Amino acid sequence: MLFKGPCSVHSRLAHMLMALVLLGLFVQTLRIATDGKRSPLLKDAEVIPEGNASPEELYLGRLTRELGLSNEASWVAWRIQPSEQSEVWPSVTEVQLNFGAVSPKTINLASPDRMDLYAKKRMELPVPTGPKLGDVDASDFLFGISTTYARISDRDYAMIKAWARWLTDGHHHSNGASMVVVLDQANASQLDEVDRALQASGLDCWVTTTEEPMSMARRYFELTRILKTFAANLAANGQNKRWFGLVEDDVFFPSLSYLRDRLFSYNTDSQHYIGLPSEKLDWDTSENEQIQTHGGGAVLLTLSALTRIPNLPCFETERSKKTSFKSKRWDELLHTCLMKHTELQMHVLPGFYSPNDKTVDENVDSYETGQQPLLLRRYAHRHLLNINKAHLVTNVCGESCFMQRYLFKDNWVLVNGISITQYPDGVKIEHKETHKGAPTEEKKEEHQKRSNPDSDEAGRDISGSLTERLLIDDDAGSVDRATLSWSGRRNAWKLVDSAVSKDGAVWQAYFKRGKKNSARDVQQQQQSSSADEKDSIIVLVWEQAKSAL
Ligand SMILES: *[C@@H]1O[C@H](CO)[C@@H](O)[C@H](O)[C@H]1NC(C)=O
Repeated sequence: MLFKGPCSVHSRLAHMLMALVLLGLFVQTLRIATDGKRSPLLKDAEVIPEGNASPEELYLGRLTRELGLSNEASWVAWRIQPSEQSEVWPSVTEVQLNFGAVSPKTINLASPDRMDLYAKKRMELPVPTGPKLGDVDASDFLFGISTTYARISDRDYAMIKAWARWLTDGHHHSNGASMVVVLDQANASQLDEVDRALQASGLDCWVTTTEEPMSMARRYFELTRILKTFAANLAANGQNKRWFGLVEDDVFFPSLSYLRDRLFSYNTDSQHYIGLPSEKLDWDTSENEQIQTHGGGAVLLTLSALTRIPNLPCFETERSKKTSFKSKRWDELLHTCLMKHTELQMHVLPGFYSPNDKTVDENVDSYETGQQPLLLRRYAHRHLLNINKAHLVTNVCGESCFMQRYLFKDNWVLVNGISITQYPDGVKIEHKETHKGAPTEEKKEEHQKRSNPDSDEAGRDISGSLTERLLIDDDAGSVDRATLSWSGRRNAWKLVDSAVSKDGAVWQAYFKRGKKNSARDVQQQQQSSSADEKDSIIVLVWEQAKSAL
């Protein structure tokens, strides 16, 4: 027996599992009742009021501690009033206002002048209409994740806090989505501890562990068995899940409602196998020049596709070739297995990159391309992003405002939650058409034909070199793709912190380290201009939207 859970002898343990789920719910309810109002999700993101300090002073105090600042810094602060204006996601929103209208103040960090810190200017920024954290209904989804105790408990359960951002309403309640977590060889006390942390965050989650060592691929394969059992139990209880996700622990969905919209064209009563590669790194080219992906650590299945997997013989055949099995990734093995033993095709919903896209700008970070994010993968490793801070702004401006891009009159660009960039020598905006030139009706038809899940031919004509039975269902034909081009200087501030103040506003700090602190050369230090020498902080205070007040 491999699991304590229901996977090995699932039919017999089915109602025991249900009892566990109910117990979990009961314990969760108890905890909510005794925990008071403070959400663990927000606990380390709050600016705690202190004496009669102004909000700006409090926030600077927090930043000084967190960033280890000393001496002097340059400070700019804006208040932002988000207003819902567009139904569609604009690739870039032009703002008829100078970001530089607030001039930077030099502040002495030991004794800052309250008036210098005060954010007196307010701008209104349009944000796309989108659900707030509490309004999302994600009950179509059941996710399965395999991880380890060490990873999940790292940095005070940062991973659970990240999951809570897309699986709860931010206040201890599930948004309807459920999750199964398999820990790799955790002992009873570790399992209990993780369970407690998960329940405290309000995730609708069930956690189990493997008892013997097994590869990641094997754990994901076993997860399909658990999800199948779980789905049957939920269905018996009147809860019908439509989408079953196998995802890695550092996959992040900025908006499950956007994911649900993208999945709209698939009939969930049919067998569907969908890969969700995020960036170009999640694609590769095989020896015979074929472009392919195995899903990039995130795969979605409909129930009828999921239930086939546990019965497939692929695992046994692979086990005999132990070395090749071990060296392969779980999504690759699953893909190979399904291609070999079923007639399923893999549909791909591309994230930031699609092989169809001929206009990839290698100079621009994929998080700054102005594309609506479907999912992020390995965000900390690839982009040094603290997702819990980056995504916090959606508390006030809704799920769709994350990564929204704004171009100001004076060549400043804000990518909400990611960065602020100044192009002193100018920046040009170019609205690109679709990947294959103008979207003529003919081309559109062709695209639809390709996207038809029942078409066998599909996939092969896309670039002439796409792996068979791989279909890319992008929305490139209908989406605005603006690119920014510049020559000359580029000054970038990156998001380093975000927190919620007592009035519910979300404070963001974007930071650029001064030359004095980064350059070793003393000579150069003395020569460099004084403006570049100091650490530089830009604070944006996102206030609650008017309608929400
Ligand atoms: C579980 O493992 C941890 C770390 O190895 C250890 O400190 C702890 O005592 C173990 N607990 C039990 C109940 O075995």
